[in-house]
Amino acid sequence: MPQPPRKRPHYQAKKTWKQGGGPRPGGGNPGYSGPKRPAPRRDGPEQGWDQVAGWYDKLVGDRGSDYHRNVILPAAMRLLAPAPGEKILDLCCGQGVLIPLLLEAKAAKVTGVDASPRLIESAQRRFGPDPRIDLVVADACVPGSWADGSHDAAACIMAVHDVPDLPAMARQVAASLKPGGRFVAVFMHPCFRIPQQAHWGWDEGRKLQFRRVDRYGVPQEIPIVTHPGQGGGDTTTFYHRPVGDVLTAFGQAGLGVTVCEELYSHRRSQPGPRAKGENRAVKEFPVFMAISCVKR
Ligand SMILES: C[S@@+](CC[C@H](N)C(=O)[O-])C[C@H]1O[C@@H](n2cnc3c(N)ncnc32)[C@H](O)[C@@H]1O
Repeated sequence: MPQPPRKRPHYQAKKTWKQGGGPRPGGGNPGYSGPKRPAPRRDGPEQGWDQVAGWYDKLVGDRGSDYHRNVILPAAMRLLAPAPGEKILDLCCGQGVLIPLLLEAKAAKVTGVDASPRLIESAQRRFGPDPRIDLVVADACVPGSWADGSHDAAACIMAVHDVPDLPAMARQVAASLKPGGRFVAVFMHPCFRIPQQAHWGWDEGRKLQFRRVDRYGVPQEIPIVTHPGQGGGDTTTFYHRPVGDVLTAFGQAGLGVTVCEELYSHRRSQPGPRAKGENRAVKEFPVFMAISCVKR
């Protein structure tokens, strides 16, 4: 999961929001930034984040990004609650950040699926030939050998917004699970973390940090430059969907939502005149949403 800069830039609002104060530059979504230009369209099989695989692998490393370690993975493991001996699917596994935790919880088998051949190679290098791990290059939105009804549980971490066809992916998740199987997804909060459309702002009059959302209700394909500061310029596409569309995709696939949690950042502001307002905002506006479902 990409990370935002540690220190938020201090935006000097000239006017209060009511009077038209603007957004705070750089205060957007974790790691998603950069100019708006269309993501390249590819022909051929879906390859997920293959073109940014080297950057993403380095960013996540062996233990995960700061958000992975402090918010995303703890929530995913708590909601998934894997029991020893279970067979678990990690859908859109990337370079496998969740896999060590599943093995630590004594999963008997882990199936990692991702569309990026390079991220799967990286997972293979990381874990070596472990008989408990099966790594597959495949499109999560298309029927595949892994969607075989054999899994006790499945997880999809930080990828709900990266797949082009969420209802299709939800159907494949359901197909991968045994009856009564569990599914957990953690993803960017659909209401407050919309790249290029949601920003922090500072209301000088009320001394509060607010979240401004410019667009929400219409699904959008948002091109993202993943590491603009590093001379790169590779793009991925963020598929924004209103929260109702996300939950409905899983419900219609036969995955009944039992828990929906909103996850807040663990980060706190540097001491300063805005610290109180900023720290309050961090507790008001969730960064991620986590859902837990059961296959009906
Ligand atoms: C933000 S990364 C998350 C990876 C990993 N779960 C993590 O938390 O580090 C999104 C992942 O979704 C994968 N992906 C995107 N579209 C996909 C698709 N249609 N089928 C399978 N994987 C896909 C990408 O290749 C990438 O590895």
